Amino acid sequence: MTKADILLGLQWGDEGKGKIVDVLTKSYDVIARFQGGPNAGHTLEFDGIKHVLHTIPSGIFHQGAMNVVGNGVVIDPIIFCKEMDQLLAINDSCGDRLWISRKAHLILPTHRLLDAASEAAKGKMKIGSTLKGIGPTYMDKTGRNGLRVGDAELPDYMERYQALKNKHLKLLAGYDFEPPFDLDENETLWLAAVERLIGMQIADSDVMIQEAIKTGKRILAEGAQGTLLDIDFGTYPFVTSSTTTAAGACTGLGLAPNRIGEVYGIFKAYCTRVGSGPFPTELNNETGQFLRDKGHEYGSTTGRPRRCGWLDMPALKYAVDINGVTQLMMMKADVMSGMDEISICTSYKYQGKQVTHLPYGLDADLVEPNYLTMPGWSEDLTSESKHSNLPLALKDYIAFIEAETGVPVVLVSVGPDREQTLWKEATS
Ligand code: IMP
Repeated sequence: MTKADILLGLQWGDEGKGKIVDVLTKSYDVIARFQGGPNAGHTLEFDGIKHVLHTIPSGIFHQGAMNVVGNGVVIDPIIFCKEMDQLLAINDSCGDRLWISRKAHLILPTHRLLDAASEAAKGKMKIGSTLKGIGPTYMDKTGRNGLRVGDAELPDYMERYQALKNKHLKLLAGYDFEPPFDLDENETLWLAAVERLIGMQIADSDVMIQEAIKTGKRILAEGAQGTLLDIDFGTYPFVTSSTTTAAGACTGLGLAPNRIGEVYGIFKAYCTRVGSGPFPTELNNETGQFLRDKGHEYGSTTGRPRRCGWLDMPALKYAVDINGVTQLMMMKADVMSGMDEISICTSYKYQGKQVTHLPYGLDADLVEPNYLTMPGWSEDLTSESKHSNLPLALKDYIAFIEAETGVPVVLVSVGPDREQTLWKEATS
């Protein structure tokens, strides 16, 4: 039996997971998404073309890989079919290597309306949701009301759909909000998209994963969002509604904990966050703007500008521990070139006390970050091809992170292209 490896984000999402899955896919037979849905935007770049995937796993461009959308994912059939069409235009065999779990939940048009209504009602406590219907769909899942892909294959599917829609309409009547789209029109598109979806390769993905393990296939579980957006361990309530951490790969694919092998933790050399919620190391100044401009820090799903700040070591160490990370991968090191100095938050003053762990509350009135400052580097890294040639100041920065987390940084990414990926050479 083989073990499945997991790849996930250690910050607030947008770490660059899609690129690394794409880079690693050649070593795997199965790439499986385990949570989230169209709120994600995984960007891959190769041959000078940029591709953004929302629900489909990032291994889809490789001929040999099986791509699985696991039971823990929530699917908007309209977005899914659009994404599929874009992929088919590039390669007409994409559909042959994609399987969709019968147990994945469907995002209804009324889930999206509920998302919009709930955000509007939150006022100052607005989460900054992508408004893709993620929260309401997971609420119906845990509330045992949800509609799953497999339901659309059953004779009473339309009754189940109507029952859920009617429940939503009753809830919506209690809100005062501006619906962002026409429900009837959207419903027609949605029903047609569901028909198309169930004509694709629908699978008992949990059984498929078990079979793959038994027959020695190499599996990579692909996470979406990031650890600090996890429903339990993130900056609640400013989080997403799924388990974004390694445990999510178990529940979202049917993977037993003792079948987990490597856990790849992806992090940016700095931090970003999109949407509301605490961000202790946020830079509301020229430095933050420098990172945003140079790093093109605008959401790939919503286009919103991302908030930027320094690397947060207590948060990174927390994420490494929660996920059992065995290998770290640093993204966007090239963006930090040209800074005289860089800072790292190494501890906090939390409610008057010095702490080195990630405290319960991260709001500005509770925590004050303590920083260590290190020299920056000026070299352009984007055309560098050898890890050993990286500037000394960057190597020191990496060595500091390795010492603090106790985990090796095996890869440094210096640009969006597959080619701009520097693996640490083995030392003999
Ligand atoms: P939701 O998952 O769309 O409800 O959004 C909840 C929070 O998670 C918001 O702050 C979003 O901006 C954030 N979020 C959701 N998906 C992503 C992602 O893929 N990358 C970064 N942030 C995300």
